[in-house]
Amino acid sequence: MTDTHDTKVALVTGANRGIGLETARLLGHEGMTVLVGARDTGRGAEAERALREDGVDARVLPLDVTDAGSVATAVGAVADGFGRLDVLVNNAGVAEGWGTIGGTDLAAVRRMLEVNVVGVMAVTDAFLPLLRASPAARVVHVSSEIGSMGAVTDPRGPFHDLVASPGYPLTKAAVNMVTVMHARALRDTPIKVNAANPGYCATDLNGHSGTRTAEQGARVSLHLATLPEDGPSGVLWGHLAAASDPESYGILPW
Ligand SMILES: NC(=O)c1ccc[n+]([C@@H]2O[C@H](COP(=O)([O-])OP(=O)(O)OC[C@H]3O[C@@H](n4cnc5c(N)ncnc54)[C@H](OP(=O)(O)O)[C@@H]3O)[C@@H](O)[C@H]2O)c1
Repeated sequence: MTDTHDTKVALVTGANRGIGLETARLLGHEGMTVLVGARDTGRGAEAERALREDGVDARVLPLDVTDAGSVATAVGAVADGFGRLDVLVNNAGVAEGWGTIGGTDLAAVRRMLEVNVVGVMAVTDAFLPLLRASPAARVVHVSSEIGSMGAVTDPRGPFHDLVASPGYPLTKAAVNMVTVMHARALRDTPIKVNAANPGYCATDLNGHSGTRTAEQGARVSLHLATLPEDGPSGVLWGHLAAASDPESYGILPW
């Protein structure tokens, strides 16, 4: 990896498919060098190739967010190649085991917590020195409206009848609190940390049942990754499923 000085350097975790791949594409089309975080090097190389064919300066970065050694190696590679990180999109996530009370798949809950929550914290902690080395880094934690207690408990809202399975939603509720605390810890710095709600997008995560495209979901992360100096920090922002216009975006309740 070689430094490109004036070009912003962005890392997207879980960038080999779905919303992450489209986020890498959009950041690349903004002129950023994009590090394609992928736990499987082969899948990452394939995504790198596809992005390069689309004009993106994409570089695969092997990164399993649950593996401390992999995270440390990735930090070392970015430090050696660029000496800073301007954008971090914590996008990698899993959803499985939709059991409810009386039949909770605890092993699935533990796996989801490890990737969706501990992974976000581990990657952000490890890259913090490189984020501080950027003039004004932007950090995006990819969350969901179904991690919003306000949205899920709104009796008139679209999630009132959401399946009563706590596993995946609790991981995104935790990501929301991580966002609040990260933003608070960094409030005296130029770094902004926000949570993204892509909306319900058709990806492998949900068997392609989503009503929005992965690219539409990625636009939410792009917005938060390119916030101006007077933009917010410590909010959950993104698609508003409750709005009548399907292209409505804004701050969601926690
Ligand atoms: N789709 C939706 O409707 C929706 C809505 C709200 C929020 N989200 C969130 O958006 C994010 C992206 O989801 P998606 O729908 O694009 O899902 P996806 O198509 O299933 O992609 C998930 C990505 O995460 C990667 N990943 C999983 N575990 C990992 C690990 N331990 N280390 C590194 N990467 C790992 C996967 O890599 P492999 O290919 O190696 O498995 C894949 O690249 C997730 O955080 C998800 O919770 C999605």
